[in-house]
This record gives sequence, C-alpha cells and structure tokens, in this order.
Amino acid sequence: MTALKNDRFLRALLKQPVDVTPVWMMRQAGRYLPEYRASRAKAGDFMSLCMNPQFACEVTLQPLDRYPLDAAILFSDILTIPDAMGLGLYFETGEGPRFKKTISTPADIEALPIPDPQKDLGYVMDAVSTIRRELNGRVPLIGFSGSPWTLATYMVEGGSSKDFRKTKAMAYDNPQALHLLLDKLAQSVTSYLNGQILAGAQAVQIFDTWGGNLSAAAYQEFSLAYMRKIVSGLIREHEGRKVPVILFTKNGGLWLESIAEADADALGLDWTCEIGDARRRVGDKVALQGNMDPTVLYAKPEAIRQEVARILASYGKGTGHVFNLGHGITPEVDPKHAGVFINAVHELSAQYHQ
Ligand code: CP3
Repeated sequence: MTALKNDRFLRALLKQPVDVTPVWMMRQAGRYLPEYRASRAKAGDFMSLCMNPQFACEVTLQPLDRYPLDAAILFSDILTIPDAMGLGLYFETGEGPRFKKTISTPADIEALPIPDPQKDLGYVMDAVSTIRRELNGRVPLIGFSGSPWTLATYMVEGGSSKDFRKTKAMAYDNPQALHLLLDKLAQSVTSYLNGQILAGAQAVQIFDTWGGNLSAAAYQEFSLAYMRKIVSGLIREHEGRKVPVILFTKNGGLWLESIAEADADALGLDWTCEIGDARRRVGDKVALQGNMDPTVLYAKPEAIRQEVARILASYGKGTGHVFNLGHGITPEVDPKHAGVFINAVHELSAQYHQ
C-alpha cells in the first residue's frame, strides 16, 4: 500500500499533533458541483452512480480535485443496507428515498436477512477498493454507515418522515420487536463497516441523523446502545494503523458526555452546540468534528472566514479538532464559497498548532 501523503485527518482524530486543522465536508460530493450533476446524468440516476465502482470513484474524487480537502468520503448512501435486506430502495425525484416494502410487524422483522458484505454489498466493497487505489495516498478514505436507529426509521416509515410516528409508536407499543430490528441492523452495520475497512477505508463514520429526535431515555435505549455495540465489534487497526471511528448524532449536543463513553475516537457535532463547551465537556476522551452551520456558505466570503475564525478560536489551541460542517452541504451553495471555507480553515488554524 502507498504511504499516506497527508494524514492530518487521521492524526487529529487520534489527538496527535498536526500542522493545521484538517477539514472535509459532509456531502462533499454532490449536487452543488456541476461535475457531479454531469456524472449523474451520464450514469442515469443516483443509485447507478453508487452501484458502479468507476462512477462512485469518479464522483468521490471530484471535490478533491477542486479543493485541498484532508479526507475523501466513499460515495454511497446509508440506505444500501435496507436495500440489501430486500426492501427495494428507489428515489423519486424531489421526494427523497422510498422503499417498495416497509417493515410493520414482528414477522416482517423476523424474516429480514443480515446482508453479507461481499455477496450482497459487493458493489460498495469494490467502490472502496477502487477509490483507495485511485487516491494513491493523497488523503485518507472515510467509510460510513447509518446508525441502526436512523436506518430503522426509513425502513418502518417507508422513507423520510417529519415525526417518525410509526417507528416511535413501535418503540412504545412493541419495544421487543424494535429491539430485534435494531439488533439485526447493528449486526449488519458491524460487518458492513468491517468489510469497508478490509477493502481500504481508513476511518469510519456512523451517521445517526435522527437520534437527536428521540427523548433522552429513548436515545440511550434505541440509538446509543446499538452504536456502542457496533463500535465494540469494529476492526480498530488495519494495515498497521489505527482506524478511527466517528459517531455523529445530529442534535445530540445534550448527550455528549454519554456519547463520549461509547468508545469511539471522535464525535461529530452539529451547529447547535458551542465547540469550546463541547471540548470542556468531553475532556480528553474523544476528538471533535464540526461544526459550522452549512447555511453560512450562503453568506459572503468575508462572513464565512469570520465564522471559521470564531469556531477555531472557540475550540482553542491544540489537536483533536477536525473541521467540518454541522451537517451536509446543500445543493444551492456556490462551489466558490466551499473553497473559501476550506482555505480559511487551513490559513486561520496554523496559529493554534504552534
Ligand atoms: O458525504 C458524502 O459526500 C458521501 C455520500 C453520502 C450520500 N448520502 C450521497 C447522497 C452520504 C454520507 C450519505 C448519507 C445519508 N444518506 C444520510 C446520513 C447523512 C445525513 O445527511 O444526515 C441520510 C439520512 C441518507 C438518506 C438519503 N439519501 C436522503 C434523505 C437522500 C435525499 C436527500 C436529498 O437531499 O435529496 C439521499 C440521496 C443522496 N445521497 C444524494 C447524495 C449525493 C442526492 C441524490 C441525488 O444526486 O439526487
């Protein structure tokens, strides 16, 4: 394997010294880039991009060719697992993800298979190894999955939801059934992420997009417990290097202390918490990733730089910070503004690493 030319992302996650704060953006390959829209038109649709390793590789590398990003993230989707369980994922234009089959009864859950990463999700494993080869050591490659709770909401609701009423009703009416579903998902996610690590992913992130929508007690029981289980089953060292794990619960700011106990290396933060406070609360336990409001990218360049400066100052001196947006970059952002953001992080952070 080629040696890494830029490893500051992995170093910051492990709280090792860095020269400047590393930065990447959630959803960095996506619709705000004209070259992404062109690739998607060529492939036909979004899922064809995901399922063809050459296309997945092409779009993964597009933001890296434009910006000095410190990490690449596998181009795929969290809903590949429910699809491999037989639910039939499809995307309706402008409507987000949908499933042909939904999960509503204990019998539906009993019948769900646990996908084999090589046999059932081989296209993702091939995408990881293709991207890794094409990266040729430029920056580390991040693999990812959804959290069991977040995946369960899509499987039970049949798509996106405002209030998660079916999944939450199941949590209170029939917790045993939901626990069986979450347990199957935790097993599936563990082997899926381990498959990605063996195929070449150098860090992994679990997206718990909807965990922050639960009550404090339900978050512990239905989301965090299963992420903790996954973390305890992950391969933590590969190719002679640690493979850091990042947990991102959107709107999880109230629970950072307990998320920090889940044995991950880093926590992702959305923009609703102050990163300096978060650092004081988690202490030395974990690194932090985040947390600029993605809509700041609609403001003028000088305002973007000011907000980057404010967040860097809030975190303060030393390593353990990976700069990111607090959630994905949105399709209408001007690609030039993403460049202003990334350059500002590198330029303005050097003073915090002397
Ligand atoms: O970060 C990256 O660049 C890697 C690729 C990535 C995608 N989805 C590509 C994508 C990642 C990490 C995801 C994760 C994902 N997918 C999450 C968790 C992260 C988050 O945003 O909270 C969720 C909840 C999904 C499910 C999903 N996939 C939704 C709700 C949608 C529609 C969203 C929308 O904005 O329309 C998708 C589709 C999707 N996944 C797109 C991309 C680039 C847009 C598809 C298109 O090109 O039309």
